[in-house]
Amino acid sequence: MLCLGIESTAHTFGVGVVDEMGNVLSNEKDVYKSKPGWGIIPMEAGKHHRKVADSVVKQSLDKAGVSMDDIDVVAYSRGPGLPPCLHAGLNKAVELTKFTGNLVGVNHCVAHIEIGRLTTGLKNPVVSYVSGGNTQIISFAEGRYRCFGETMDVGLGNALDKFGRAIGLDFPQAPKIEQLANNGKWVNLPYVVKGMDLSFSGIVTECIKRYEKGEKIENLCFSIQEVLFSMLVEVTERALAHLGKSEVLLTGGVAANKRLQEMYEVMCRERKAKFKVVPKEFAGDNGAMIAWAGILTYKSGQRINPKKADILPRWRTDEVEIGWIRKI
Ligand code: ATP
Ligand code: FE2
Repeated sequence: MLCLGIESTAHTFGVGVVDEMGNVLSNEKDVYKSKPGWGIIPMEAGKHHRKVADSVVKQSLDKAGVSMDDIDVVAYSRGPGLPPCLHAGLNKAVELTKFTGNLVGVNHCVAHIEIGRLTTGLKNPVVSYVSGGNTQIISFAEGRYRCFGETMDVGLGNALDKFGRAIGLDFPQAPKIEQLANNGKWVNLPYVVKGMDLSFSGIVTECIKRYEKGEKIENLCFSIQEVLFSMLVEVTERALAHLGKSEVLLTGGVAANKRLQEMYEVMCRERKAKFKVVPKEFAGDNGAMIAWAGILTYKSGQRINPKKADILPRWRTDEVEIGWIRKI
């Protein structure tokens, strides 16, 4: 069985082809670039996705060495995400169901987790899902991926990007902050953990203020990473301890950050837990993760009628029935 998955929740229009065994046959994408100094403009990103959709689908099929006639199921990112972007993916997916009647809608966050489990071999991890828009500590319990802690304001990637924008970096700013941090020294910053939840906005504002007062950008890049990542590792460690689990999976676009990986490695070594990071190709938004989650969704018996297919811009991770896991 082959599934073609379409990702289109935000910047990325991605198309992947994956088989039933979890072999990724292709994973192509085209990323909308915002104007320097700007964040994402949803309507513009949606327009971008519509423009590139056909060529990314073609590239993905070509790379996989298959045609639409070989595809058994089409999967799309049903949410959460930006409505104009989600619509672009939905419309393309529905159009492609003329080749195969089978359509499934996938939760984007669940797809990040499932591609992480597939590519790392972890069975029952505490998941640190950190991307632009999302920051959640998740684990499987009683039929769902439950959220044990999360950001109370912006996602970790967006927090870093916002600070980066204020100091004049271009999108995506977070990887550039990672480079600049290598030459920085610690400056004191607030640390905001409330129970199991995190708040990043105030720390970003504080960093911008310090920058305006003349603090070196390298020092601020170093310190913002140290403080935000420590907060995240702290709540992950608490989830690990309370849930009695022994694996940590780091996934989402921010998982590419070497310093964050290192902090998790240290914490997990001390707790004798296994730690794995999703491979870089699958860390950011991509079509293959939608295709793989599409296979799991399809096999668990869920379908969407193409005539009634919709988007769920605010669909939460813990609202999804994980029919493909009985017990782990
Ligand atoms: P979601 O819809 O899941 O929130 P997203 O649209 O934010 O996803 P992703 O591709 O998962 O997309 O993540 C992108 C984020 O990852 C951006 O904020 C980007 O700056 C951040 N990022 C990428 N590389 C790094 C890095 N090396 N260090 C820190 N952050 C990074
Ligand atoms: Fe994402």
